[in-house]
Amino acid sequence: MFSLCYCVGIILILFFIEMFAKIIAKRTENENRTIATLKFDNGFNQELNVQPGQCLMIWIPGINEKPFSVSKISDDHCEVTIAKVGNFTENLINKGINDNVGIRGPFGRGFKITKEKEILIVAGGVGLAPLAQLPEMNKDKNFTCAVGAKTKKDLFFIERLKTNKNTSVFISTDDGSDGFKGFVTGLAEDIIKDRISSTNHKFDLIIACGRKEMLKEVYKISKKYNICLQISADAFMKCGIGICGSCAAGKFLVCKDGPVFMNEDIDYVMNFM
Ligand SMILES: Cc1cc2nc3c(=O)[nH]c(=O)nc-3n(C[C@H](O)[C@H](O)[C@H](O)COP(=O)(O)OP(=O)(O)OC[C@H]3O[C@@H](n4cnc5c(N)ncnc54)[C@H](O)[C@@H]3O)c2cc1C
Ligand code: FES
Repeated sequence: MFSLCYCVGIILILFFIEMFAKIIAKRTENENRTIATLKFDNGFNQELNVQPGQCLMIWIPGINEKPFSVSKISDDHCEVTIAKVGNFTENLINKGINDNVGIRGPFGRGFKITKEKEILIVAGGVGLAPLAQLPEMNKDKNFTCAVGAKTKKDLFFIERLKTNKNTSVFISTDDGSDGFKGFVTGLAEDIIKDRISSTNHKFDLIIACGRKEMLKEVYKISKKYNICLQISADAFMKCGIGICGSCAAGKFLVCKDGPVFMNEDIDYVMNFM
């Protein structure tokens, strides 16, 4: 009885721990003004130790609570980059300086870069948000970034990526208004082929974040060229702490076992995407 009460107590504490964070800066990221970054005050990384790829649940009282990745982490602040797609994201983007929102997390597992030296990032749309900090946080690795957007006006973080000495940036747009014309997965495959033919070396790791269709294609490419893959999976999340089951992908809960999946877990997760 005691252990049951103890467990329920812990669950309730975890569920209700909600930190209020103040927005201290805000900027629009793309020409189409559909993507914005909010900078929060608290010493997030000291208190929460957020890792790239983990997610935070952001709560706007009276509206809803939704998952977001962190797009920049430092000791004294963190940033979240949001694409306006519906009611919640529109409300969040419309928040102003000094407004507060509730934040729970971080939840789940982030990206893990260990021995890999040559890394290919494949980012579709706002999927670039959690990936852009990887070259900044892993200066001893080389990154090649394939960044895809619908049009040139939807691109963001390109200058940020280019400032890293360890990073090459390639762009694709669906309409051909900038870079490679077509999907970012076509660009990524071209990059891999070029690399194999010019250096005879493959990438050690592909890291991808974007829509499900894109992730499925990246998965096929990783299999075709036998390159390790890490993906950030998308899911409908409610509790964020493994209780409600709304984010289930078969035996996995995306909020707990993901959102980043790697190795053989991806083979399994792909069946549910
Ligand atoms: C682990 C994780 C991390 C995320 N990180 C970020 C982030 O850093 N920045 C960010 O902008 N978004 C991120 N998202 C997605 C974000 O949670 C959704 O965009 C948001 O919940 C949409 O809420 P809404 O009410 O504005 O739109 P809704 O009204 O819920 O949806 C509007 C439209 O957008 C589509 N849509 C909704 N959710 C998604 C989604 N997850 N992926 C693709 N299309 C969707 C719907 O199909 C619908 O057509 C993340 C999601 C997950 C699971
Ligand atoms: S969001 Fe509730 S179990 Fe994952």
